[in-house]
Amino acid sequence: MDFRTGLGWDSHRTRTGRDLILGGITVTAEFGLLGHSDADILLHAVTDAILGAAALGDIGMIFPDNDPQWKNAASDQFVRKALELAREKGYALVNVDTTVILEKPKLKDYRLPIRENLARLLELPLDAVSVKFKTSEKVGPVGTGLSAEAQAIVLLQRS
Ligand code: C5P
Ligand code: MG
Repeated sequence: MDFRTGLGWDSHRTRTGRDLILGGITVTAEFGLLGHSDADILLHAVTDAILGAAALGDIGMIFPDNDPQWKNAASDQFVRKALELAREKGYALVNVDTTVILEKPKLKDYRLPIRENLARLLELPLDAVSVKFKTSEKVGPVGTGLSAEAQAIVLLQRS
């Protein structure tokens, strides 16, 4: 089998006084996301998608959220580790597609910086990195501003 696909999803509560970090980029907002690490839902979803595609488990198995080592940790190291583990298993990343679901603020001006940062982290061409944004139409926990979510899907190819 030459190709493997993997799915990732994450959700964190919003909280004032925390930074809002998406794909490693700090977004100007009135609130941030609560979490043991930097709560970067987009990087957490990408990490799980890579681990999932290679059937390597999930982010919590590798970076337990009760481990003080990961307190306020920058999540780019989670992505790098997942990529390294997938590569050790003989897989190379082909592309990544993601969606961030957040009611506000508008994120579209951050699309290019986030894609560029993801492309750098994942060692992919910009064209292989997609970032989409959606609201939740004011419905449910995301729609009422209680939380934010991210989804990611990746394709791995046997290298
Ligand atoms: O959720 P909705 O379909 O209304 O989103 C419309 C568009 O608004 C999206 O396609 C996206 O380009 C943009 N958007 C954004 N920031 C958000 C949510 C949506 O820029 N937080
Ligand atoms: Mg998370």
